[in-house]
Amino acid sequence: MAEARHVAIVMDGNGRWANARGLPRTEGHRAGEDALMDVISGAIEAGVEVLSVYAFSTENWRRSPREIAFLMNYSRDVIRRRREELRSWGVKVVWSGRQPRLWRSVINELQAAERYTADCDTMILNFCCNYGGRNEIADAAMELAYDVRRGVVEPHQVTPELLGRYMYQPDLPDVDLFIRTGGEQRTSNFLLWESPYAEMMFVDEPWPDFDQHSLRACLDRFAGRERRFGGAVDAVAGE
Ligand code: FPP
Repeated sequence: MAEARHVAIVMDGNGRWANARGLPRTEGHRAGEDALMDVISGAIEAGVEVLSVYAFSTENWRRSPREIAFLMNYSRDVIRRRREELRSWGVKVVWSGRQPRLWRSVINELQAAERYTADCDTMILNFCCNYGGRNEIADAAMELAYDVRRGVVEPHQVTPELLGRYMYQPDLPDVDLFIRTGGEQRTSNFLLWESPYAEMMFVDEPWPDFDQHSLRACLDRFAGRERRFGGAVDAVAGE
């Protein structure tokens, strides 16, 4: 039975969940915090090694200044408020994303959480904040180009494996299971490089309604998927 080592989640639908209840969008993000903690505990229980979550994308800067300010403040507070609990669960926090534009206070909390949980080894929580897949690949290409200019790398040595070493978290395995809540069916620029053979799962539940049981249902469906990674076997009917 296939195990999902790395699960990635686009936690979508917070705003619509809140508006459907007559609440401002920010209340959906608040409800999303509980869903996140419940899903982290479920992922640990299920033996997931890496859980990547899309907290804020490089495209989310297009939102209203009010919602951006809320998400920045809230990310900073969630990381600080939850880091002790995460450490007690053995969760090592790592951050994937870009520094430019991201609030200094958020970067400080992310880096503090990384240090605080550095020796945890039950599960890795890859917190993707000010993250965009194309930006990550462009940032990696830029760093690689600098190494070529320095003479550390020759152009003919560039392979997918080498370029992969320049991504934000090069030691994480590729994504096995990619979940998006909230009913939309797109990747929205999340972990493009890391998901070449990820199994995609789109669920209608908005993120605040998603929980560890929903995760378990996704993992069960994943176990039934046949993964060929580009390979093929002949299966002629009747033979
Ligand atoms: C997408 O829903 C969600 C986000 C952009 C933010 C993710 C934040 C959380 C899950 C809250 C937990 C807190 C942190 C900091 C991890 P949306 O706003 O795009 O919803 P919509 O599609 O209904 O508009």
